[in-house]
Amino acid sequence: MATSDWLAAFEKTAAAIGAWEPSSAATLSALDAVRIDFLGRNGRLTEVLKGLKDLPLEDRKLYGPKAQSARAELEGRIAARKAALESHRDLSLEKSGVDVTLPASPALRGRLHPVTLMMGEMTRVLGLMGYSLAEGPLVETDWHNFEALNIPAHHPARDAHDTFYLKDLPTLLRTHTSPVQVRTMEKTKPPLKIVCPGRAFRRDAVDASHSAVFYQMECLAVGHGITFADLKGTLEVFMRTLLGSSTRIRFRPSFFPFTEPSAEVDVSCLLCGGQGSGGGGKGCSACKQSGWVELLGAGVVNPAVFKLVGLDPEEWTGFAFGIGIERLAMMKYRIPDIRLFYENDLRFLDQFDEDIL
Ligand code: PHE
Repeated sequence: MATSDWLAAFEKTAAAIGAWEPSSAATLSALDAVRIDFLGRNGRLTEVLKGLKDLPLEDRKLYGPKAQSARAELEGRIAARKAALESHRDLSLEKSGVDVTLPASPALRGRLHPVTLMMGEMTRVLGLMGYSLAEGPLVETDWHNFEALNIPAHHPARDAHDTFYLKDLPTLLRTHTSPVQVRTMEKTKPPLKIVCPGRAFRRDAVDASHSAVFYQMECLAVGHGITFADLKGTLEVFMRTLLGSSTRIRFRPSFFPFTEPSAEVDVSCLLCGGQGSGGGGKGCSACKQSGWVELLGAGVVNPAVFKLVGLDPEEWTGFAFGIGIERLAMMKYRIPDIRLFYENDLRFLDQFDEDIL
């Protein structure tokens, strides 16, 4: 090869090397591509260096060192760039074998329990109607749970078969939320409107519709001239807001020692729309084909209770109702068995979200 041809090729390559900006290689693989382009087995500079051997001895002596130093310089620049790129790479992560590009495992989000959601919704609706929250202890005295509610000593509700009595008599686990009525009336001068959600306990055998521990919500209004009509209106608005505007309610005469008159209140069955039909011709099982579901006890506050808590029955009147929270949730969400609430099975609990209320 003529020296002039070789020299032209060398200068062209040297110019290309001079024009290369190491910082333009943004990754290690881009840098390696540059290395291969110039210094690989058939790289541009490699070819030029190979051509040296065909030059006359003098020219080889003259240009050989230049070509070698061009190579050394390029190798130096590549090595410096490589070191710079590697210093930005988290090698510890690579060595650990963790693949950060894999999708993350899903974050488990906690939820409110369906009973909590139902309770929150019930108290919210009554809150909008002007009721304030009241609470009482789960371990109650005989006075608050029975005596002051006009439940006499011989009443069957006091039977040990129904109530969990504690060793240090006369305390017991409250059998309903009604003692909160007593506690509130004892310390707050009417007029008052309260709602008290909470746990209650009964010595019931556990089955699909009974639990020894369950939730109730008590509602009490005391004022001047409050009548049964106020109770009816309040319950109608409450139930329709909670369960839908087509919900109907009906009152059946009943008895509670602390209300007079008293009623059991039924709500039109949500599952069959109050028709009692469905279930593939067998009829609606949720309401036993009646179209109605018994949901709560209610009544006008018995004057005897006012006397027991130290209020003048000539001055004050009121109404109260107590409702089972699980029962309502069971109807609203079509839950067939009360035990599902307490088994903490995530497959059940995961289905409830605040968004569904
Ligand atoms: N405390 C009653 C029960 O547990 C329900 C009730 C509350 C009835 C208030 C009337 C008034 O069954």
